[in-house]
Amino acid sequence: MDYEERITSAQMGRGEEKVEFSLRPQSLQDYIGQKTATDNLKVFIEAAKLRGEPLDHVLFYGPPGLGKTTLAGIIANEMGVDIRITSGPAIERAGDLAAILTNLNDNDVLFIDEIHRLNRSVEEVLYSAMEDFALDIIIGKGPSARSIRLDIAGFTLIGATTRAGSLSAPLRDRFGVSCKFEMYTSDELGEIIRRTAGLLNVPVDSRSVEEMAKRSRGTPRVANRILKRVRDFSQVRGNGSIDIDITRRALDALGVDFMGLENLDREILETIIDRFDGGPVGIDTIAASIGEERITIEDVYEPYLIQIGFLNRTKQGRVVSHAAYRHLGLEYCGEGDEQLEMDM
Ligand code: ADE
Repeated sequence: MDYEERITSAQMGRGEEKVEFSLRPQSLQDYIGQKTATDNLKVFIEAAKLRGEPLDHVLFYGPPGLGKTTLAGIIANEMGVDIRITSGPAIERAGDLAAILTNLNDNDVLFIDEIHRLNRSVEEVLYSAMEDFALDIIIGKGPSARSIRLDIAGFTLIGATTRAGSLSAPLRDRFGVSCKFEMYTSDELGEIIRRTAGLLNVPVDSRSVEEMAKRSRGTPRVANRILKRVRDFSQVRGNGSIDIDITRRALDALGVDFMGLENLDREILETIIDRFDGGPVGIDTIAASIGEERITIEDVYEPYLIQIGFLNRTKQGRVVSHAAYRHLGLEYCGEGDEQLEMDM
């Protein structure tokens, strides 16, 4: 199974987009969590509306599955404008971006997911578009080539990335607002699960909500996916409503343990322990050992393992913590990782 299809993957799986869309909150009032970001955005949206101007460009960064696209849609709704959704790899040429930009209306939102994957020539078109709401187009070739400036509608670019550090400085500097997405608490995930269960019309008791929240690795997309799989079990093996018994049976059958770890998470930790004495070991060596891409490990698996204190990122490499040994039922024979310098 590739990582997109794992139950706890934060990436959106094939065919999931439509269902997820219908469950998404449409207003800031219905959006749970990310309080710092949403409190600030409320003010900026209201101010932009009072002035009749587009909202300043916004950068969202943080691990996948935390609701960046959802919040972008809400911003457009709250501004009362249309949103155009695309992604860095989908915009191949400068002309593709020019076509999108010239079709926007005043104050519209353009959402570019994975904005760190834009190629350089496309990125350069964005600079004048973001700063002056203009496109510089080169006409002709050689000595007779000349540049003309084309005005476009005032718009808001919302860029989303899992790796803010990979953004070029000129692009990063053109965002007026920057929001870091944090992992959700169990209480917040519980609220999201209750809300989604209500929309799906499936009865769920509070112990089950807590159990699912605890195993959702801080990620709403995972929480909603787990809820849907537990609902399947309750309909086929139970009476259609979700109780703690069916929840535990479903999650065990799916291989999601009580901390939300799945086989690949455990494989990463066990590989570091078995082959590299618990670390430190370089990320490329881990990737080669388990046959996954480095980027996938860094963006998809590591954030949660680090968040729960099972993995430390040090200057010398990745190190498995004492707590992870305990979780895996293994004896800890390391010398402690406190001497290693943390890589923040
Ligand atoms: N569904 C997914 N993310 C959500 C969020 N942050 N609030 C409410 N519902 C959600």
